[in-house]
Amino acid sequence: EQIVKGGYDHFMLKEIHEQPVAIKDTYRGRLLVKEGIIRMAGIDDNLERILNANRIIVIACGTSWHAGLVSEYIFEDLARIPVEVEYASEFRYRNPVITEKDVVIAISQSGETADTLAAIKLAKSKGAFVFGVCNVVGSSIARETHAGAYTHAGPEIGVASTKAFTTQITVLTLIALKLAKEKGTISKSEFQHHLQELELIPDKVEKALLQDEHIKKVAETYKDAKNCLYLGRGYNFPVALEGALKLKEISYIHAEGYPAAEMKHGPIALIDEQMPVFVIATKKGHYEKVVSNIEEIKSRSGKIIGIVTEGDVDVKNLADHVIEVPETIESLTPLLTTIPLQLLSYHIAVMLDKNVDQPRNLAKSVTVE
Ligand code: G6P
Repeated sequence: EQIVKGGYDHFMLKEIHEQPVAIKDTYRGRLLVKEGIIRMAGIDDNLERILNANRIIVIACGTSWHAGLVSEYIFEDLARIPVEVEYASEFRYRNPVITEKDVVIAISQSGETADTLAAIKLAKSKGAFVFGVCNVVGSSIARETHAGAYTHAGPEIGVASTKAFTTQITVLTLIALKLAKEKGTISKSEFQHHLQELELIPDKVEKALLQDEHIKKVAETYKDAKNCLYLGRGYNFPVALEGALKLKEISYIHAEGYPAAEMKHGPIALIDEQMPVFVIATKKGHYEKVVSNIEEIKSRSGKIIGIVTEGDVDVKNLADHVIEVPETIESLTPLLTTIPLQLLSYHIAVMLDKNVDQPRNLAKSVTVE
């Protein structure tokens, strides 16, 4: 088993460290920077249908649903297509309004999640075009959808999803950029800039991973917390949800993710000196607003751990700890800010002696309702 784990103590840690290669594998052959194009057969072959969509409905569960939420920001921001993101389990039983003008994107690492599969069948029966974003080649969802794009992340064994998440975001970003170019909602130079920045992401993930020893020390400080709060805004709101989910799944510590500005409508009541608050506060995206959210937490004695852009000063002055990630364009920040939160959950779970790769009560793939 040690050989399979490639020298790492757990599959989860191995998979976290595989992300630079996994992301590269995801965009290989699709992201052609020199030529200034994105090539994806599943989109190219169905371009008219997809471009004529009234809206995109994203259906998924768990971590894949969080990737779907990130894609809502990307599709709306870059391609100006209205997006709804749905839990497959709610969508399938809600008698949803679906028409032939809808494009449904189903996201699933395993391609076998029962609720997602049922939601796909429902959407198809109403005439929608269904596009799959799966990791497992030949899986049920890959076969059931009209077209799709694989994430090419390689096998993910750890129950807590890591590289599947970042590669799903990569595929969804490629699709959004491609549609934006076709629709003309992005300028040529902006499009080219996005391609160049996306190509740099694997190296930046590699750099983010170098913070591991520092993150371990932060984990040591907060491992006995009973509750944790994760905050982010815009593109990084779904990352806050995913950070909280990772901690819950493997360390069994109660954690909540929230849009930072919603804190004042509830969670702020929970803040005291016992409450660690992980705040994603990268330089791009509502930075000043997030800094003022941090000030509100500080004035209530909460412990602040900031996920910040390299060289940050303002948050560093306010926070108890900061973890730096390299700079990139706003739409790509989730690919970097996710990394320290994965490592943090991993180290806390190991320190608490939990079964990291197979947490209690959870399954890698939920093939029953
Ligand atoms: C389970 C797994 C999660 C995963 C979710 C959706 O709950 O433990 O890691 O995110 O299912 O799975 P899928 O394979 O559809 O992405």
